[in-house]
Amino acid sequence: MENRLFVFDTTLRDGEQVPGCQLNTVEKIQVAKALEALGVDVIEAGFPVSSPGDFNSVVEISKAVTWPVVCALTRAVEKDIEVAAEALRHAKRKRIHTGIGTSDVHIRYKFNSNRDEIIERAVAAVKHARRFVEDVEFYAEDAGRTDNEYLARVVEAVIKAGATVVNIPDTTGYCLPSEYGAKIRYLMEHVDGIGKVILSTHCHNDLGMATANTVAGVLNGARQVEVTVNGIGERAGNTALEEVAMIFKSHPGLGISTNVNTRKISAASRLVSNLMNMPVQPNKAVVGRNAFAHSSGIHQDGVLKNVQTYEIIDPHEVGIDDSEIILTARSGRAALRNRLAALGIQLKDSMLDKLYEGFLRLADKKKEITDDDILVLAGADRSYNHRIRLDYLQVTSGVGVRSVASLGLSVAGEKFEAAATGNGPVDAAIKALKKIVNRHMTLKEFTIQALNKGSDDVGKVHMQVEYDNHIYYGFGANTDIIAASVEAYIDCINKFKM
Ligand code: KIV
Ligand code: ZN
Repeated sequence: MENRLFVFDTTLRDGEQVPGCQLNTVEKIQVAKALEALGVDVIEAGFPVSSPGDFNSVVEISKAVTWPVVCALTRAVEKDIEVAAEALRHAKRKRIHTGIGTSDVHIRYKFNSNRDEIIERAVAAVKHARRFVEDVEFYAEDAGRTDNEYLARVVEAVIKAGATVVNIPDTTGYCLPSEYGAKIRYLMEHVDGIGKVILSTHCHNDLGMATANTVAGVLNGARQVEVTVNGIGERAGNTALEEVAMIFKSHPGLGISTNVNTRKISAASRLVSNLMNMPVQPNKAVVGRNAFAHSSGIHQDGVLKNVQTYEIIDPHEVGIDDSEIILTARSGRAALRNRLAALGIQLKDSMLDKLYEGFLRLADKKKEITDDDILVLAGADRSYNHRIRLDYLQVTSGVGVRSVASLGLSVAGEKFEAAATGNGPVDAAIKALKKIVNRHMTLKEFTIQALNKGSDDVGKVHMQVEYDNHIYYGFGANTDIIAASVEAYIDCINKFKM
């Protein structure tokens, strides 16, 4: 059996549909270019019928990337397939990903249908997609909970209809690794024509088994894995790209290889985390801040004697480079452009100029500008056309006194000022803000994260604010964490549908 494993990245589709992770088209192109540099085989660029924004992103990503296959998702619906084909028209290599739910619970409650009718709809969708493209992937949604015998009938029928890849999603993240592996094995052994297609894994992480299930699928015959950077995705997420790539690289005895340039993993991880405002948990495998930090005395002693005692991955292998280049206020535009390129970001001159202004402002406050700072600055670009902006903020706080904040805002160009007291500086600043933006809004979640180390570091704030029964996600980054908090709150307000 062929031992090359194809990597299908769905960061821009399954990952991007997570609330708060939405990207604009420019940002999606940045991620797509980073994925191309990483060496993924397929980029799932969106679900074109779902919105004009998604349609446009698929069009632009199709133009922007050269080597990877660009894939668009559809339901088993003719109109979806036609819209996807249209969105893919500029792609050099294109794929339509169509499918339907196959578990009894989906058949009964989602479609009010029966097993035979679902096979007919699956076959019709694949045949329709083949009228537009040669490469058609079929997904059997909730295959994880679909009875294997029936699943084999579905897979056989879509192969006859012309599918080139068949995706077996564990949509709800329910399967045990042994069960998922056995499902793939069953299909490999019982489906006529299985040799003509590639079987694909698509595992969700609801029980923390997405990567284990994916590996079990591959060991039993799947040759494509559907993954996202940092494992972002619906609910508990999808299988993490970096974990799968490093598992097969660290276990050469399995004889499975991918095209992933693992040295670009760290940059891609940071780019996605920053653009999507989705912090990576510090102990996340491969890309977490602590993934290579040895803290206990016994471990540190071992690592000093020989790094192999406690380290199974050389950090350089995933692009964590000790010689990270640090920029300062004296670094010019060219140095910034070079560093951005190394991080997988290419900007037009006008955008580079804006970013450089922000860079100089930050370099005034902070001696050394790290890659993470640059990624935050690149992500912060979206705030330029905000309706509400923070003009100034002054806070007094301390022990044994109530905090006082005064702030100035521009709202659509008009200036407003307010002051308030609170039980801490953030509370005071937000109360002052609410005096100007007088709406019934509630802070639901608030996290502060330092980027690197040192008291002059940039703090990143993620917030969720509830307004009019919707949750809005906001982000702020500043060397002053009170200012970062107010900026994150304002970021939420700027997204309100009013
Ligand atoms: O999880 C899932 O089943 C999916 C399909 C649409 C492929 O994301
Ligand atoms: Zn999914």
